[in-house]
Amino acid sequence: MTAHPGARRGVRIVGVGSYLPEHRLTNADLVRMMETSDAWIVQRTGIRERRVADLEGGETASTLATLALREALASAHLTPNDLDLIVCATMTAEMECPSCACLIANAIGASRAGAFDLNAACSGFVFGLNVAHELLRGGAYGTIGLIGVDTLSKFMRYNTAGRGTSIIFGDAAGAAVLKATDDASLGILAQTMHADGAGWKDIYVPHRNSDFPPGVTPDPTQCGFVQMSGASVFKFAVGTFPDLIQETLDKARLRPDDVDMYVCHQSNARILLAARERFGIPEEKLYINIDRVGNTVAASVPLCFDDLIKSGRVKPGMKVMFVAFGGGLTWGSSLWQI
Ligand code: UT7
Repeated sequence: MTAHPGARRGVRIVGVGSYLPEHRLTNADLVRMMETSDAWIVQRTGIRERRVADLEGGETASTLATLALREALASAHLTPNDLDLIVCATMTAEMECPSCACLIANAIGASRAGAFDLNAACSGFVFGLNVAHELLRGGAYGTIGLIGVDTLSKFMRYNTAGRGTSIIFGDAAGAAVLKATDDASLGILAQTMHADGAGWKDIYVPHRNSDFPPGVTPDPTQCGFVQMSGASVFKFAVGTFPDLIQETLDKARLRPDDVDMYVCHQSNARILLAARERFGIPEEKLYINIDRVGNTVAASVPLCFDDLIKSGRVKPGMKVMFVAFGGGLTWGSSLWQI
């Protein structure tokens, strides 16, 4: 690829990969651990099973991410040293320092690449697509490895006190390799990134008493566990999701049926079905895998995309809209000509 100063470049997604931990946690397993039922979980969320990392055995965000990125590089026929940058979207890096991205760079031997994490909770991978795209199109970088990974199981209590969250979340990693190209028709047609910090208290992980929001009595036994106001997030998501799709379509001057595939954050099957109905999106154009993996936070969107590429349901020439929302609160979209 030749970069001409000032010339408009495009961006191609040249490889994808994913990794799911081996350990399956089914609804039947959860019924043995807490007061819940398969019917309650399926009816409220659409989830039947999720995967959980073997944290004691050394599985962490960076080990899951490393396997996903290796697969994405292999599918792109590239080596770790082809990467100029590694961006890891996660809210569950194993340590505050170093970043998960640096651990991944070390594990794959990407000695040339810059590396940093990006935290926008469930919106992280979509925000990462938008950021990576602009860095590539601007000409500063040629090839970027982007990973969405989370191991929320480390912030869960698998008992009745934690049943409001532990039934939903699963662990996973998904990755993509993005490359600048002289074909300016490829890449993002429209993108959005939003946040409403006032909604932070709807999903948070306190570490000390001072982290609890005003009006909530600090409870040290809750420190280290996800606190979620499920009903508030549900309401926010049901309203935001369709608005986000509409805003992105408007920006690109497209209609809902101009998009070949909607790759959406899997937070709850009911939220996805509501969006499908509102826009009259046919079933085959809005992928749902939440029944098998649960809500995998930043891994959710790349995991779906990997499934869709591998199964041949997404092919070059298509228009694909990535949509996500989550803690922060954050929400964003990325509409691609791939
Ligand atoms: O990625 C973004 C992050 N999060 C989300 O997208 C989550 C969005 N929210 C949701 O998906 C739903 O709010 C949930 C699935 C989390 C919860 O469903 P809900 O219909 O909002 O239930 P609720 O929290 O209002 O609870 C209803 C009842 C309560 O009992 P009472 O007070 O009515 O007696 C809960 O204690 O259901 C009870 N409950 C459960 N019962 C059986 C809560 N969790 C469970 C459970 N099994 N696992």
